[in-house]
Amino acid sequence: MKHLYEAGDDPQAPILVALHGTGGTERDLIPLARRLSSGSAILSPRGNVLERGMPRFFRRLAEGVFDEEDLVLRTRELHAFLNEAAAQYGLDRSRMVAVGYSNGANIAASLLMHDRAALRGAILHHPMVPLRGLALPDLSGIPVFIGAGTNDPIASRAETEELAGLLRGAGAEVTVHWEDAGHQLTTSEAEAAAAWLAERS
Ligand code: MLT
Repeated sequence: MKHLYEAGDDPQAPILVALHGTGGTERDLIPLARRLSSGSAILSPRGNVLERGMPRFFRRLAEGVFDEEDLVLRTRELHAFLNEAAAQYGLDRSRMVAVGYSNGANIAASLLMHDRAALRGAILHHPMVPLRGLALPDLSGIPVFIGAGTNDPIASRAETEELAGLLRGAGAEVTVHWEDAGHQLTTSEAEAAAAWLAERS
C-alpha cells in the first residue's frame, strides 16, 4: 500500500498505525500520531479504495452502509501490509497500536474483530460498527480508546455503545470518551487519547 513511514527514537514506545478518514491521505494523521506519542515510529498507509476521487480503506454502498465483502478483503489486505511493513522496516509487529479516524477507525475496528494478533491496541476516533454477526476472537488484554461525539450524525451514540459492547464482550478493555461535539476530532479528544495512551505505554 502507498504509505509514509517515520522512524521513532523510543524503542519502548508503541508503533502507531495511522489510518485516515474518507478523502484523507497518509499525511493527515501524522501530526495527531506525533502528539499522541512523540517517540513512536509511525506507519501511515493510504486507503486503496477511491470513492469519487476520495481515498478510503473499504467500499461503501451509501453513507453508513458498508460493502461487507470488500471490507473483509480490505481488512486482510491491511493486515498483510502491516506484516510486510514490519519486515521491511525491522519493526516489532507485536507493538502496533492503531490510531484511526472515521473510515480509518472503522477498518481498525475490523482488524481487531478479525484477528487478536492484528493490533496490540487501538485508538478509534468516531468509529461505527464495521460489521455485525461475526464471531469475535478473544480480545482480552487489548486496550481500546473510543472517542465519540454526543452530536455525531455519522457515528451515533447507539452505534458507539454497540461497538464498545461488542469489543467488551470479546474481552477488550474499552474506554469511551465523549465530547460535546459532532463527527470532528477535537483537540480535547486528541488530548484525552494521548493521556490514555501514556497510561498504557
Ligand atoms: C465510513 O467508514 O464510511 C465512515 O465512518 C464515514 C466516513 O468515512 O465518512
